[in-house]
Amino acid sequence: MRKVMLTGDRPTGKLHVGHYVGSLRRRVELQNTGDFDDIFIMIADAQALTDNADNPEKVRQNIIEVALDYLACGLDPEKSTLFIQSQVPELCELSFYYMNLVTVSRLQRNPTVKAEIQMRNFEASIPVGFFTYPISQAADITAFKATTVPVGEDQMPMLEQTKEIVHKFNSVYGETLVDPKILLPDNEACMRLPGIDGKAKMSKSLNNCIYLSEEPEEIKKKVFSMFTDPTHIRIEDPGRLEGNTVFTYLDAFCRPEYFPEFLPEYKDLDELKAHYKRGGLGDMKVKRFLNNVLQAELEPIRNRRKEFQKNIPAIYDILKKGSEKAEAVAAETLRDVKAAMKINYFDDLELIKGQAEKFSE
Ligand code: TRP
Repeated sequence: MRKVMLTGDRPTGKLHVGHYVGSLRRRVELQNTGDFDDIFIMIADAQALTDNADNPEKVRQNIIEVALDYLACGLDPEKSTLFIQSQVPELCELSFYYMNLVTVSRLQRNPTVKAEIQMRNFEASIPVGFFTYPISQAADITAFKATTVPVGEDQMPMLEQTKEIVHKFNSVYGETLVDPKILLPDNEACMRLPGIDGKAKMSKSLNNCIYLSEEPEEIKKKVFSMFTDPTHIRIEDPGRLEGNTVFTYLDAFCRPEYFPEFLPEYKDLDELKAHYKRGGLGDMKVKRFLNNVLQAELEPIRNRRKEFQKNIPAIYDILKKGSEKAEAVAAETLRDVKAAMKINYFDDLELIKGQAEKFSE
């Protein structure tokens, strides 16, 4: 079977290091293995509009920011198709048919949508488009016959919904759609990178993000303001690792080679953690190390971004070509779907012949 990867992001802001360790870094690694027959990376503008209907300018402005972040991280348009969701109208058509296979009560049970409704104070009046976006996400995934969807844990309910639609569709209309697999980050820190304040999740509205395009001074300031262990007051005090943001970030970002480079007194992260727990290791020293690690990780990304920023029209061109390719692939799936659903009247010569015979009797 063909191996196809698909994933994407809503263009509501620049991407941050939570996006990076949660999915972006993995996508680039997977891209570079050469294991996939096709890779689609989608800027989900139509989905962003489901809760930003009154702010189209925000979505429009952030398309290029997300595209720049993608390219800066190493997504390569020669290997991965980068495209814009709204430019593939077949996705809407697929969503419309999938809607018949999903109940309102099933959508109401989606925990991610439930949490988002609360966060946005939508309880009293939920836009229908927002409420049904898990169905549109199933269209995104199935249109490209994706087998692998690398995303964060919060997207698990969308994948479950997609699988249900695939199974239902295939059992009602015959084997047509491909069952996708979710690919989650492989460690806890990457799964749920907290904001610099130690709050649950990095988010623009909480003002606790480190962006991929952040300048060195800003990164440093943010690292030094990070939440650690509030009971670790003097250097000699034993420190706690649970909920200690600096150590969570080290779990997500540290590579073995950073120890000889930046902190040669320690063999590895386990040794550093043991010393912190025992007492005698100050927060400042750990923060200085984390700052070095983050600077080393983000510098090449920031520099590549600046290169790509020099030719913005070329990036729109990449997205346009990608959208054209994506549309061609989605159109093929839509053709299969319509045939399976028996709504391909004009392509079905058997139908026309059969009807002609019926009326000539
Ligand atoms: N829901 C995803 C997010 O909020 C974006 C997205 C839209 C997506 N369609 C997708 C992700 C399909 C993976 C597959 O970031």
